[in-house]
Amino acid sequence: MAHERTSTGPVNIAVIKYWGKRDTELILPTNSSISITLSQDQLRSKTTIRASPKFTKTRLWLNGVEEHNLDNNIRLQNCLRATKKLRKEYEDQLSDEIGIDNVQPISSYNLHICSENNFPTAAGLASSASGFACLVYTLSQLYELPISTTELSKIARQGSGSACRSLFGGFVNWQMGIKQDGSDSQALQIAPHDHWPELAALICIVSDAKKGTSSTEGMQNTVKTSTLLQYRINNVVPERMKSMTNAILHKNFNKFAEITMKDSNQFHACCLDTFPPIFYLNDVSRSIIRVITEYNNTTGRPDEFKAAYTFDAGPNAVIYALKQNIPEIINIISKYFPPSKNNVSYFSDPYNLFPN
Ligand code: DP6
Repeated sequence: MAHERTSTGPVNIAVIKYWGKRDTELILPTNSSISITLSQDQLRSKTTIRASPKFTKTRLWLNGVEEHNLDNNIRLQNCLRATKKLRKEYEDQLSDEIGIDNVQPISSYNLHICSENNFPTAAGLASSASGFACLVYTLSQLYELPISTTELSKIARQGSGSACRSLFGGFVNWQMGIKQDGSDSQALQIAPHDHWPELAALICIVSDAKKGTSSTEGMQNTVKTSTLLQYRINNVVPERMKSMTNAILHKNFNKFAEITMKDSNQFHACCLDTFPPIFYLNDVSRSIIRVITEYNNTTGRPDEFKAAYTFDAGPNAVIYALKQNIPEIINIISKYFPPSKNNVSYFSDPYNLFPN
């Protein structure tokens, strides 16, 4: 008998950025990070997994195209191995309770996995985060794993670091952990999506081209060559994690915006401090930074903000603002960067995907 499950997974956009690994195999980060999970109205991954004793091998299709050489895909194999192992343990436990004949040995079946994104893959829009979160979540459903979301986050982390945060809705902390085996490097929810319903995210697609330097490759070059990154890890992020958590819990937009923009700036400064340097921002990205800075200047106070920009490993801007200011921001942005010139903007709100 074939078993099948489908689920969708959201994108998350970090406000304290993860950049650098202390263990590249287990995907253990050099600093903790905080992100917000976006609603799935605009951006999401969707994965269907079928397990059958009739399948002769495990196969994977990404956006309709079959991926070959799955044995060489270490990250995928790590996620499959970890979830299969838990399923096997569960089957053994069930066999003891209800008898071996009543338990489907799904852990031994090959899988057919179909995954698709409804947005540009690898354009710096966290497609690996939603993709791996969705894969691991769908596996946990298929295998009916009795496991907490935080435990599941440790498996998703081994697919792509930022994926561990997409398993939760709302505001999420990925604690870097200090143990060598990674057992304390996990995601936890700071607050659910409805904690701060006034907060919105506006995503400005500046380019949907595949990025030049992948996050995986880029961050390890930064680890090897940037002295600024070491300063950031030791002297900046620990304090920012505390201030950002407080800003979120107290819904303090001014503090939230200040840290978000400073952290995006420092992440891109670390990219520039990498040797040879990595450039993710382009002229349009930098103009968006200028426009948002000007817009914030209209408050007349240096510590008061109406919008916060942040950029991941690509030129696309995510602007966090209170909902009431979004129409004004769209007006300003579209005045400077009309959609006809290949700049598309759209909305997303924090939303809770996995309500368990
Ligand atoms: C800039 O999670 O894509 O978006 O762990 O190698 O898969 P791997 O990297 P990935 O890196 C994301 C980097 C970032 C910042 C962030 O999301 O925190």
